[in-house]
Amino acid sequence: MTSLIALVLAFVFAVVLSHNNHEICLRVPERGAPGPRGPEGLKGDVGPTGQCQYNLREVVQLREELFRLLEALREDTCLAGVKSGKVRDDEMTASSFYLQIYAAHQGRLDGDGFWHPDVSKYESPGEWLQVDLRGPTTVTGVVTQGSGGSAGCTTCWVSSFKISFGNSTNQMQVITDVDGHEIIFEGNTDRETRVRNMLPNPIRARYFRLITVTFHGRISVRLDYLTC
Ligand SMILES: *[C@@H]1O[C@H](CO)[C@@H](O)[C@H](O)[C@H]1NC(C)=O
Repeated sequence: MTSLIALVLAFVFAVVLSHNNHEICLRVPERGAPGPRGPEGLKGDVGPTGQCQYNLREVVQLREELFRLLEALREDTCLAGVKSGKVRDDEMTASSFYLQIYAAHQGRLDGDGFWHPDVSKYESPGEWLQVDLRGPTTVTGVVTQGSGGSAGCTTCWVSSFKISFGNSTNQMQVITDVDGHEIIFEGNTDRETRVRNMLPNPIRARYFRLITVTFHGRISVRLDYLTC
């Protein structure tokens, strides 16, 4: 919390700073002590001014950090409930999984674990992770991550995927573009950073499935869907 307050303060300062045009010093310099008296009819010099407390680069970095934090908070308010646990464990299923610790329900955005297909299939495109949103839900996008910080798989993520959807698991259809071609979404490029993909149009359905196309290392996914 303290660091959040510090970030907000830095942000406010940074805004003041950018309005201040080319100031490289955050603290407004104190008025200098009067300088030596000038010759008759001339002003004296100005004495030394106050010290800078922060440098511009630090403030800009803090401001970028704050923007990332605000963006993540904004994104989180739209999540479908995979991250929060509103989607229950038994509402997450997969084509296969390797051990219970890599089961489908481990594939939650920002979670400690991740979903990982069975050993014989974790290098097989086509493996999928499905979320049951319990009723028709309007989904606008998907947010994915790789294996994260856990020791299981240090260089593992899905680099491209398709999404299928339906109100029944027997009638799933893959999202296509206007020409009817299946859309391949660009996925992750590291194990931690969130990647957000918006759907071409919001889709109302109960089941959503991420289908692996390409991956790095072994197929490993954490995700949530966006509802706004
Ligand atoms: C699923 O059902 C809802 C409500 O009946 C409907 O609005 C939606 O279009 C259906 N989705 C699909 C993919 O059939």
